[in-house]
Amino acid sequence: MAVAEERLSVLGEADPELAAIMEREFERQQYTLELIPSENIASPAVLAALGSWLNNKYAEGTPGRRYYGGCEYVDQVESLAQRRACELFGAEHANVQPHCGSGANMAAYMAFCKPGDTILGLDLSHGGHLSHGSPVSFSGILYHAEFYGVDRETEQLDYDQVRGRALEVRPRVLVAGASAYPRIFDFPRLAEIAAEVGAVLMVDMAHFAGLVAGGAHPSPVPYADVVTLTTHKTLRGPWGGMILCPEASAKAIDKAVFPGVQGGPLLHAIAAKAVALHAWTQPEMADYAQRVVANAKRLAQGLVAEGLRLVSGGTDNHLMLVDLRPLGLTGRQVQEAFDRARVTVNRNSIPFDEASKFNPSGIRLGSPAVTTRGMGPEQMDEIATLVARLIHNLGDEGVEREVASRARTLCEAFPLPYN
Ligand SMILES: Cc1ncc(COP(=O)(O)O)c(C=O)c1O
Repeated sequence: MAVAEERLSVLGEADPELAAIMEREFERQQYTLELIPSENIASPAVLAALGSWLNNKYAEGTPGRRYYGGCEYVDQVESLAQRRACELFGAEHANVQPHCGSGANMAAYMAFCKPGDTILGLDLSHGGHLSHGSPVSFSGILYHAEFYGVDRETEQLDYDQVRGRALEVRPRVLVAGASAYPRIFDFPRLAEIAAEVGAVLMVDMAHFAGLVAGGAHPSPVPYADVVTLTTHKTLRGPWGGMILCPEASAKAIDKAVFPGVQGGPLLHAIAAKAVALHAWTQPEMADYAQRVVANAKRLAQGLVAEGLRLVSGGTDNHLMLVDLRPLGLTGRQVQEAFDRARVTVNRNSIPFDEASKFNPSGIRLGSPAVTTRGMGPEQMDEIATLVARLIHNLGDEGVEREVASRARTLCEAFPLPYN
C-alpha cells in the first residue's frame, strides 16, 4: 500500500481527528512548491525507521556504555550510524545523538567553552543562525557573542575583515556556517585565522551537509576542530543533529551531548539517520547534490533575468536571497502572497537590512526539496517565471490563481515519493 495511505489508515482508526489534519498537511506538501531551502522530503525508508519500535527504548549513554539494560540492538543501530557518518564525511568521531541542530551547537560550545567565553559568528542579519550568538538564544545568553559580517559592496565575506574581528575580540570559538549565505566558506582561510588567534574553529554545516556528502561543496571536516550539522535539510534524513570531530575531542563532545545538554537518545531518529547516511553511498545521491546546486544556479539566473536583485548577485550553493527593497516590498507581504499561490518561501533579513526582523526586506529560496521531487532546469525556469510574476504583480488575485494552478501542474508531474 502507498506509504501515505498506509500511515493514514492506521492513524485514521486510532485518532481520526489527528489523521484528518495530517491528511490535509500531506495534500499541502503534495501540491505546494516547496522553496524553503532548509526543508526537504525524507524517503519512505527514513520514515519507516522513524516511525518504528526503536522509539520504545531508553539508552542513556553511548554504545557499550549505557545506563540501561536491553541495549544490545540499539547499540548496533547507533554504532552503525556513527560508522556511516565517519565514513561519509571522513571524520574520526561522530556523535549522532543531538535532537536538532541547535542542540548540536549547544553541545559543541559546551565542549570547548565556559559560560562567559567569547564566541565569534556570522551576524544573524548577514546570514548567520540564532544559535551562533543571538542575544535571544542560549548562545548569546550563556556566552559573550561577537559578530563578523559580509562586505557592504560584494555582500560576501571578506576574510581580512573576519581576521580583523578575530584579532580584536580573541574568541574562544570562531563559528562559521550560516542559514542564509549563498556562497561557499573558505575553510582553509578560516582555519588559519582560528589558529592565529588560538580559537577553536567550529563549522556549522547544517544547511550544506548534503552537498558536502555528495561532493558538490568543499568539506570543512579536514579544517575544523568541530563540525555540527542537521540531518533534515540537504542531507535528506530525519529531523535531527550530529557532531563530527577528531578523536581527541570525542570524549568532551560525548559528555557535552549527554549528560550536558540532553537525556536519552532518540534511537528511532538515530536509526533514520543511519538510513539517510547509507543512501549517500549510492551514486544517485552524488548526482542529487550536483543537481541541487545546478538547479539553484539556474533558478537564480532566471530570477535575475526577470529583473530581481539577488544578494551577492547569485548563488554557489542551494539557496538565494531576493532583495525586495528596489521594488518597495517587504518580506511578510510577499511570503503571504506566495502562500496563497501555493509556493512556499520564507521572509528573511538581508545584509544591512534596516527593516524589522519580523518584516524584513528579503525572501529566501532554495532548490533542495524541488530537486528531491525530480525537477530540473526546465522546471527551474518555470519556477523563476512564477516567482517573478507573483512579486511583480503582488496582491493581484488573478495572478495568484494562475501561479497556483501552474505550481499544481508542476507538483502533479513530480509527486512526493509517498504514493
Ligand atoms: C546554520 C544552522 N544551524 C543550526 C540550525 C538549527 O537547526 P534546528 O532547527 O534543528 O535546531 C539551523 C536551522 O535552520 C541552521 O540553519
